[in-house]
Amino acid sequence: MVGINEDYDKLEGGYLFPEIGRIVGKFLERNPGTNVLKLGIGNTSEPLTPAVIEGLERGVKNLADVKTYRGYGDEQGEKRLREAIANNYNHRGIELDVSEIFVSDGAKPDSANIQSIFGAGNIAVQDPSYPVYVDTNVIAGRTGKFNKVTSQYEDIIYMPCNVENNFFPDVPEEKADLIYLCNPNNPTGTVATKNQLKTFVDYAIENEAVIIYDAAYQAFITDPKLPRSIYEVPEAKDCAIEINSFSKSHGFTGVRLGWSVVPKDLVVENTEPGKVNSLWNRRQTTFFNGASNIAQEGGIAALSEKGLKESQGLVNYYLRNGEIIKEGVESLGLKAYGGAPYIWMETPDKMPSWEFFDKLLEESYVVGTPGAGFGPSGEGFFRLSPHGHREDIEKAVESIVYNLKL
Ligand SMILES: Cc1ncc(COP(=O)(O)O)c(C=O)c1O
Repeated sequence: MVGINEDYDKLEGGYLFPEIGRIVGKFLERNPGTNVLKLGIGNTSEPLTPAVIEGLERGVKNLADVKTYRGYGDEQGEKRLREAIANNYNHRGIELDVSEIFVSDGAKPDSANIQSIFGAGNIAVQDPSYPVYVDTNVIAGRTGKFNKVTSQYEDIIYMPCNVENNFFPDVPEEKADLIYLCNPNNPTGTVATKNQLKTFVDYAIENEAVIIYDAAYQAFITDPKLPRSIYEVPEAKDCAIEINSFSKSHGFTGVRLGWSVVPKDLVVENTEPGKVNSLWNRRQTTFFNGASNIAQEGGIAALSEKGLKESQGLVNYYLRNGEIIKEGVESLGLKAYGGAPYIWMETPDKMPSWEFFDKLLEESYVVGTPGAGFGPSGEGFFRLSPHGHREDIEKAVESIVYNLKL
């Protein structure tokens, strides 16, 4: 009889957001009809832009005509889309060959799957960070058990991000082999400088480590001096894989489209240049049959001049929502950080974050995300998401300001 993958049993609790959904469900059973205001999961709320809709419609119409109908496409993605992505990097002075770009159905699957092309090694993560990096390495068997006292998995290097280091970690003292960096970071909403990224590129080259760089929120970087891609740091192509998404920048959360960049220059122990790239190609062509051709037409449109301009409007909308949340929290005398796009607030009197979750729900009917769900250094913090209609954001902030008992 076949057994199960017992590494799944090492996972602590359920995945964060279903867990929150379960608690909110219980609250609604006790308080039927309550209008719960959601600043929890980072789900987009505003419609796709006209340019993207035109692209998606073109994709659908192509399927209606025998002359333009296409079935399976290249697993790596439509060449026109990969060229458009390469072109966008080129505007920031980064040269990529289309063979280094792999289109996918999103940054979550890519950031989950990328570890599968590497062997055993030490994992390092920002603490707090997007839970997918840790959980997928637990499932892959690269970690030990969860320690309930430290709230850490054994054999993972946690790199604390806190007020003292402006929420960007120091390079690890031990030797890390696979380093996950997310910039702007989810959940802190803070943005790294080029020098900060350079410390990791230097570390990775010196220690023959690989950086998995998640740039899903790069569109929320407003300061033109700050890097939007790790490849703005010289030599990053020798050590970094970049993962990106159309979800947050163009509203594709439900459409599903992303990409990863695996440079040919990237080498790991005992490999020649190009080997890691070819492994990811092998992985994708074996496990994945390509992103939807409709979504890819939408993606090509999103990266056109008109598409980019329109999507900037969406990004600005969420950024403004974030400012409204931050102003509300600060008006209560509480500290709030980030804004790209998440707001990372300190809980009152360092209250445990799950306790604050209950308090906010019970008193203000607002759902946020407990900082502890993103790693032990998230304890004492709370994430508020700016994704939502403006009137809902305003209602939620008003309810926090008037109803939260401090
Ligand atoms: C850091 C980070 N990466 C990736 C994703 C998911 O991106 P996608 O929708 O492209 O799968 C999210 C979604 O919240 C995220 O926060």
